[in-house]
Amino acid sequence: MSRSLTSVSLVVVLGLASFGLPALAGDARQEVEETERRWAEAVERNDVDAIGRFLHDDFTFVNPRGVLLHRTEHLDDFRQKRTVFSKVELSEVEVRIYDDAAVVTSRPKITGYAVTPAGKTTFDARPGRFTDTLIRSGMKWLAVARHMSLDPAPPSGPSTQNDPARPRYTSQGELELPSGFRSWIFVGADLSPVYKPDLPESTRRERQRHEGEPPGDFHNIYVDRESYDAYLKTREFPDPTILVMEVFRAERKDAKGILKSGQFEGQRIGLEAAVKDRNRPGGGVPWAYYAFELDAAGKPAKSAPAFPDQSCYACHLKHASKDNVWVQFYPALRDLE
Ligand code: HEC
Repeated sequence: MSRSLTSVSLVVVLGLASFGLPALAGDARQEVEETERRWAEAVERNDVDAIGRFLHDDFTFVNPRGVLLHRTEHLDDFRQKRTVFSKVELSEVEVRIYDDAAVVTSRPKITGYAVTPAGKTTFDARPGRFTDTLIRSGMKWLAVARHMSLDPAPPSGPSTQNDPARPRYTSQGELELPSGFRSWIFVGADLSPVYKPDLPESTRRERQRHEGEPPGDFHNIYVDRESYDAYLKTREFPDPTILVMEVFRAERKDAKGILKSGQFEGQRIGLEAAVKDRNRPGGGVPWAYYAFELDAAGKPAKSAPAFPDQSCYACHLKHASKDNVWVQFYPALRDLE
C-alpha cells in the first residue's frame, strides 16, 4: 500500500479528532495494517533504525523457541545479522481494535533464518503465526509485543508413510525404485572393484566383467539421510535403511576430445539397492538385495525383485565390515570421529 494512502487516512483521523469525535475503527484498522506492512518491509531491508521506529521502548518479543527478548536484544539480532529475513509476506492478517490498542494476527511466509544458541532455524518451509499487540502513540501505532509461533516441523525420521526414503513395494512384493537418491548422503565411490573369483558372482554385470576386458567402472554409493543421521549417533543402521549403488562405465574418450588422460563416469550400467527392512513383503533375513534392470538408454525399471539370500546376502554378511554394509570402503561412514 502506498505512502499517500496512509497519509490520507491519517489526515482523516486527525480531522475527526479535531472535531472531538473518536476515530473510526475502519481507519484505525487500515493504519494498523499499514504499520504491519511497513514494519515487515523494514525487516526485509534489515534496516535496524526503521524497524526500531515501529517498536515501543517497552517492546517484548517471544520467539518460536519461547525465549523472551526485549527491544534492544531484538534489534541486536538484526544488527548482528543473527536474524536475516529477506522476504516477509503477511497473509491472513486479522486486526482487532480496542480503543487505542490493537491485536493483529497474521500468517507470515518468511524467507531467511535466525541463529539462536540452540542452532540455526530456517523459515522457508515453516509457516507460522505472528500475534502482535500495538498501541496508539500520538499519531502512530507502536508495537508493544510480538509473539511468533511456528507450525509443527514436518515429521522426520523413518516412521512416516510418505517419507521418500522409506522402502516401498509393489503388490507383487518388488522394491519400487527409490526416488531422489542422488540427493541422499554420498558415502563413497569405488573404482573398478573386482570380487575374488572364489566368491560367488551373481549379477549378469558381474559375470560379464570377468569374461572380457579388465573392468572399469565407478560404484557410487548413497544412503538415505535419516539412516545416515541415525548411524552417526548410534553406529548402527536403523530399520529401515536404504543404500543405493549406481554403477557407471569408466570412460576415457569424451565427446569433445578434451581429456588427455584419466577417466570419467560414462554410461550408467547398473543400479542396485541394499535394504534393511524386517517388515518387507515375505520377511526373512534383515537385508535384501535388488538390481534394477536398465534399458538400452540406461533408464531403470520401476521395480525389482529381491535376490535369493545366497546370491547377495551371504557375501555381504561374511565380508562387509558392519552389518552387511561395506563400511570399510565408504569414507563418509568409515572415518568418523
Ligand atoms: C562376492 C561378494 C559380493 C556379492 C556376491 C554381492 N556383493 Fe554387493 N558388494 C560387494 C562389495 C565388495 C561391495 C562394496 C564395493 C563395491 O562394489 O563398490 C558391495 C556393495 C554393494 C552395494 C552398496 C551398498 C552396500 O551394501 O555396501 C549394493 C547395493 C550391492 N552391493 C548390491 C548387491 C546385489 C544386488 C548383489 C546380488 C546380486 C550383491 N551385491 C552381491 C560384494 C558382493
